[in-house]
Amino acid sequence: MSKELRTVFWKGTQVKLIDQRKLPSKLVYISCKNYREVAAAIKNMAVRGAPAIGVAAAMGMALAAKSSKGKSVEKLMSELEKAKNVLASTRPTAINLYWALERIMKVAREAAKSGDAEKVILNVLEEAKKMADEDVETNKAIGKHGSTLINDGDTILTHCNAGSLATVGYGTALGVIRAAFEEGKSISVIATETRPKLQGARLTAFELKMMGIPFKLITDGMVGYVMQQGLVNKVVVGADRILARSGHVVNKIGTLTIAIVAKHFGIPFYVAAPTSTIDFESKPEDVVIEFRDENEVHYIGKTRITPKGVRAINPAFDMTPPELITAVITEKGIYEPSRLMELYNVT
Ligand code: MRU
Repeated sequence: MSKELRTVFWKGTQVKLIDQRKLPSKLVYISCKNYREVAAAIKNMAVRGAPAIGVAAAMGMALAAKSSKGKSVEKLMSELEKAKNVLASTRPTAINLYWALERIMKVAREAAKSGDAEKVILNVLEEAKKMADEDVETNKAIGKHGSTLINDGDTILTHCNAGSLATVGYGTALGVIRAAFEEGKSISVIATETRPKLQGARLTAFELKMMGIPFKLITDGMVGYVMQQGLVNKVVVGADRILARSGHVVNKIGTLTIAIVAKHFGIPFYVAAPTSTIDFESKPEDVVIEFRDENEVHYIGKTRITPKGVRAINPAFDMTPPELITAVITEKGIYEPSRLMELYNVT
């Protein structure tokens, strides 16, 4: 099996996505023929992870543009607007989704000035493909910067899945780990299982195994123990949204707990993410945390693990304050959370 997973790509007239719900038992791709199928794939988490969602949405826009071939520019633009709204309504927390949709709309608006619908369609598809390629290059740059923070002998804890599967390829937090490993550093990883969707147990374990990086899996509740016992000496996680004004990081539920425990034991806590994950506008109270179906907590696979009638809450993300974050690793370099606004003019 190839070590280079490409999670999202354009083939012929369709968007191909790895169906992450089937992993690790089956590595299969789904084909989306229209933007509504892409929206459904984002919503039901066939594709997940902030950068992967963004590129999938951009390709969904390309499908929307293609399907309106032969119509006027006005009609095409109003159909693109409609597709954008449908895609934007799938998952509220990761900013990459909105960033990608805006970037595509900007290209479409610019091309629309020519009055040539064909040009709009062509430019939108080219931009979506460019975003996919850029994502891999960006992650490699994050890996390069981040690996300077990793030393021989480190054991790095990571949460959820911020690997190739969460991006188009290479990964963010796992990209840092992978870059250090590829440089020949002797490292190992502790991956959290990440209840309730088990992205760590299913996806991060799948990727680390494929890359041959030594690792052990823990349940989320074991984080305090492994840190207290000195079994971990660095944390690297991804992000769904980073608030540049305040330095808060929104990431998979459980990240906040890990950051608090890491601070308690003096363990550096790093966040690896592309600048497309940085929100230069919002305040913490503006962020919408996605709440998912409580059955994700009641069931593991098809088995109900809670008594009938018990209620659960299921927030998918939490917000870690800047005082718990050592640094944010981006493709442009490594920044303390208080310095993220410096990236405003360079993104
Ligand atoms: O709900 P998910 O699986 O889409 O959440 C993913 C995460 O929280 C990742 O840590 C984050 O998107 C960073 S991925 C490079």
